Amino acid sequence: MTIPIPPGVFDITPSSNESWATSHLWNYLESVLRDVAKDYGYQEIRTPIFERTELFQRGVGSTTDIVSKEMYTFTDKGDRSLTLRPEGTAPVIRSYIDHGMAQTAPIQKLFYIGPMFRYERAQAGRYRQHHQFGVEAIGIANPEQDAEIIDMVFTLYERLGLTNLKVGLNSIGNKACREAFKEKLCAYLELYKNDLSKDSQQRLISNPLRILDSKDPKDKEIVANAPSILDFLDEECREHFETVCKLLNNLKIPYEINPLLVRGLDYYNKTVFEITAGELGAQNSIAGGGRYDGLLKTLGGQDLPTVGFATGLERVIQTMLKQEVPIPPAPSPQLFIIPLGNDAREKCFSLVHDVRQHGIAAQMELSGKKLGKAMQLANQLGARYTVVIGENELSQNEVELKDMSDGTSTKVPLHSLGKILNLEKKSFEIIKLWQEMDIPYHDQKEKDFFMQKLSESLQKTSRLSTGLQTAVKEIKEILEM
Ligand code: HAM
Repeated sequence: MTIPIPPGVFDITPSSNESWATSHLWNYLESVLRDVAKDYGYQEIRTPIFERTELFQRGVGSTTDIVSKEMYTFTDKGDRSLTLRPEGTAPVIRSYIDHGMAQTAPIQKLFYIGPMFRYERAQAGRYRQHHQFGVEAIGIANPEQDAEIIDMVFTLYERLGLTNLKVGLNSIGNKACREAFKEKLCAYLELYKNDLSKDSQQRLISNPLRILDSKDPKDKEIVANAPSILDFLDEECREHFETVCKLLNNLKIPYEINPLLVRGLDYYNKTVFEITAGELGAQNSIAGGGRYDGLLKTLGGQDLPTVGFATGLERVIQTMLKQEVPIPPAPSPQLFIIPLGNDAREKCFSLVHDVRQHGIAAQMELSGKKLGKAMQLANQLGARYTVVIGENELSQNEVELKDMSDGTSTKVPLHSLGKILNLEKKSFEIIKLWQEMDIPYHDQKEKDFFMQKLSESLQKTSRLSTGLQTAVKEIKEILEM
């Protein structure tokens, strides 16, 4: 009897039944995420999968759905209550405090990639284990930091080729603004108390702000005419929000101010935002975040400002596939070696090792398939070249390097295989570099700067091959034209 996977979780495999759960898509996405993090100056932090339950109760808020309904909580053998992390912000702040970063380097820009666990009703786009890329910027109160976070998430989607995304933006002010607003909001909602959904009637007592983003149609009708939080912002919060909007306008990042946007976690203040993708249906939020200045203090640290966001990787990949963005192909072997006979198998085993030492992705047929089937396998794997090695090839020390894209063959010395493929790889890299550089230099200053940097690098290079010297000469000529 087989044991099925639990509901709401999934495997990520090289060729999944679900196209979005294919590992090479995840590898590609993660490499873009890491690149963006590097470009924006964020460094990686890895926190444990489980934490003390109290961290989320105190950090995220015990009346939130995440904490009250969705946590995977268990007691360990030492009688501690532990919880699989439902989100990454509270753990990052816990770690910041634990490591005394406020004393050593209070300004921290941190990112994380990893699984989060929420016991939600499993459905398309909503999982019990999902993965987030999140960033937390600690120590900067200025609105530029809020805008940088939104710019970063927007840039990240742009680099992935995503379009058609909606950025919802709001400010929920500071505690005093919210208290004044809550009073007016509750007075208004009391008038319609009996018409509100059961959940919202409950929230009227526990967490009235959350009624604003209720999905219930009747609740929606009622909150449409509710007072707006934006009318309750004090001067400092209003100015902060206006500056964030202005900076986003300067960057031409499109957004919509939505005074009903409050987010489902209790730690936020001032800026909050959410990004949605139309293609995703009901579970359309691909990222959410905002400022959460009080959290560090709530968790026992210093009172430092904090802002961040997280994006759900499953939903990002699903949107990429729905929007059919270009995705680089899965990596495939550059060379596939097929041995014929036992002698050849032994020699090929050393050869494939040698080729790999030259930085070439190479595989050898290990299972003893006959030539035809081995060729089929090479095709399936998407091998760029194949070589068949038998007694003749070994005695003559020469192989036919077969280009699988057009079927043509070239004779090459057996011992040079690795070197030849490495040179070919390098030539591709040089052409790519050349193509990237092939931009017209209109500005004399840009050109001068480039030429100067080129000369400096050349002086540092002690031994330059003749080929490279010619290439450099050509670059100079092109630029001087
Ligand atoms: P969140 O809005 O709860 O925020 O989650 C962030 C993103 O994770 C969502 O926009 C969504 O893409 C994805 N997500 C959440 N739950 C699920 C699920 N069950 N299945 C699939 N995807 C899901 C936070 O977690 C905050 N910690 C974000 C943050 C960081 N705020 C400040 N810093």
